[in-house]
Amino acid sequence: MVPAFPMNLRRSLLRVVLAVGLLLAGLGPSSAHAQAPDSLEAPFVDAPLRPMGTDTSIQVEVPFVRSPKEVVVRMLEIADVGPDDVLYDLGSGDGRIPITAARRFGARGVGIEIRPDLVKKARRRAEIAGAADQVEFRQGDLFEADISEASVVTLYLLPDINTRLRPKLLEQLAPGTRVVSHGFDMDAWKPDEVAEVGETRIYLWTVPEEIPPHLQN
Ligand SMILES: C[S@@+](CC[C@H](N)C(=O)[O-])C[C@H]1O[C@@H](n2cnc3c(N)ncnc32)[C@H](O)[C@@H]1O
Repeated sequence: MVPAFPMNLRRSLLRVVLAVGLLLAGLGPSSAHAQAPDSLEAPFVDAPLRPMGTDTSIQVEVPFVRSPKEVVVRMLEIADVGPDDVLYDLGSGDGRIPITAARRFGARGVGIEIRPDLVKKARRRAEIAGAADQVEFRQGDLFEADISEASVVTLYLLPDINTRLRPKLLEQLAPGTRVVSHGFDMDAWKPDEVAEVGETRIYLWTVPEEIPPHLQN
């Protein structure tokens, strides 16, 4: 006779199974490896695909998984980020990319994040880092955000989200804007450069003057 699990325990177990499944299936080796401890951090996988509180209209298609610090720095280096840049991180999580861009590279940073709890966390981290006057975190859907002022865009999303985002990047961003993606490419838009940090790939594109026919859709 097998004792029945209480319902809340079954739900917790289901969440853990979902999180591990997503990491192994979708987010690749860079996400699955252990990350350096960070005094500001909770465990590195956080509530995948959960509706937001009682507001079931917000469905998060990409779970919150942090880019490791060495990957963040390499992303900013490959994009040649500097004090003249305005960097947008689409799906900014705990804010580490805009905050690092501000603190280490002197840029202005903007994070777009759908989860209000993460926006709050990112703002708190920016204050602690002494970067609150250089970075801004906006709660909203990255597909709806106006990103036209960016000179650098960073992404750590999923392959199909990158592909869906491509027309917006090519239409809204000025020629010469750099786009950097942790882990995933952009399908038919071939990168100018690919860097590696351990097993993780980082892709760099530059928005062209004219959109080539094969990318017009
Ligand atoms: C894999 S995490 C990356 C976090 C951070 N950019 C980094 O590299 O550490 C993806 C983030 O995108 C957010 N996200 C997912 N869908 C979104 C959407 N439609 N609009 C804005 N943010 C979204 C998630 O909540 C999550 O924080």
